[in-house]
Amino acid sequence: PILAGVVGWPVGHSLSPLIHGTWAKRAGVNGYYIPVPVAPDYDDFAVAMDALKTLGFAGVNITIPHKEHALRYTSEASDAARRAGAANMLTFGEKSYADNSDITGFTEAVRATSSAPGQSALVLGAGGAARGVVLALQSLGFADIAVANRTRAKSEELAKTFGLSVADWEDRTKVLENIDLLVNTTSLGMAGQPPLEIDLADLKPGALVADIVYAPLETPLLKAAKASGHKTVDGLAMLMHQAVPGFKTWFGGEAVVDDALRAVLVEDL
Ligand code: ATR
Repeated sequence: PILAGVVGWPVGHSLSPLIHGTWAKRAGVNGYYIPVPVAPDYDDFAVAMDALKTLGFAGVNITIPHKEHALRYTSEASDAARRAGAANMLTFGEKSYADNSDITGFTEAVRATSSAPGQSALVLGAGGAARGVVLALQSLGFADIAVANRTRAKSEELAKTFGLSVADWEDRTKVLENIDLLVNTTSLGMAGQPPLEIDLADLKPGALVADIVYAPLETPLLKAAKASGHKTVDGLAMLMHQAVPGFKTWFGGEAVVDDALRAVLVEDL
């Protein structure tokens, strides 16, 4: 059988095994996709990657806290992974290859919702997830991207790296009037975290609202967006789309994101 998996700490809650397992069954692939808990240190990560490679794994998805470690582990990486400073895919080989499908995951999830998502976006948050989202927005053609983060120094650094403008965290509601897409990359709204406080009353009709959080599936932000008639992109859509390149690369079958897959995952949330 073909072996692949997801490496993280913790990793027990990951939906990726279910996504890949569903596609494997559909495609009639003889393969297993396994969650592999690996302690947070880089040394533990490197030992685990060497071992998985020796065991014949085709590749692994990488999640928190190892996305930077994957780039340190190998000298071969895609431009996207390098620019994001993080990889969520590692394909084993004589020279292992690090890639980033979080970026295309976001891009594809937005495309599935809107064929012309616009020019102007507001990104809330400036952590690792925000970097990938910004790269995705730029590849979607967004020319005018502002970032707002509680810790202003981090939004300034992100803005400098990617040519963005900075909005004050306290002003996040005030800048909604002119944007085509609002995306939350902070942990606010996640189960156990406070909700993201933002009033969508001034958001352009037709603007898209995205949230990378998927537990709960409908965050307070997405709920408010739906209530005000805005189209939404949820974290589960991004998660499903980010899984596509790994499945195709490692298992070599068709990987389609559809309502049936979503239903399988929602059942498990
Ligand atoms: P990730 O890599 O998943 O993006 P991260 O780097 O820890 O995770 O980033 C978390 C983001 O959520 C940050 O933008 C963080 O803001 P700070 O840079 O000010 O820490 C944001 N965040 C977390 N809790 C927050 C809160 N209570 N209010 C506002 N922003 C919050």
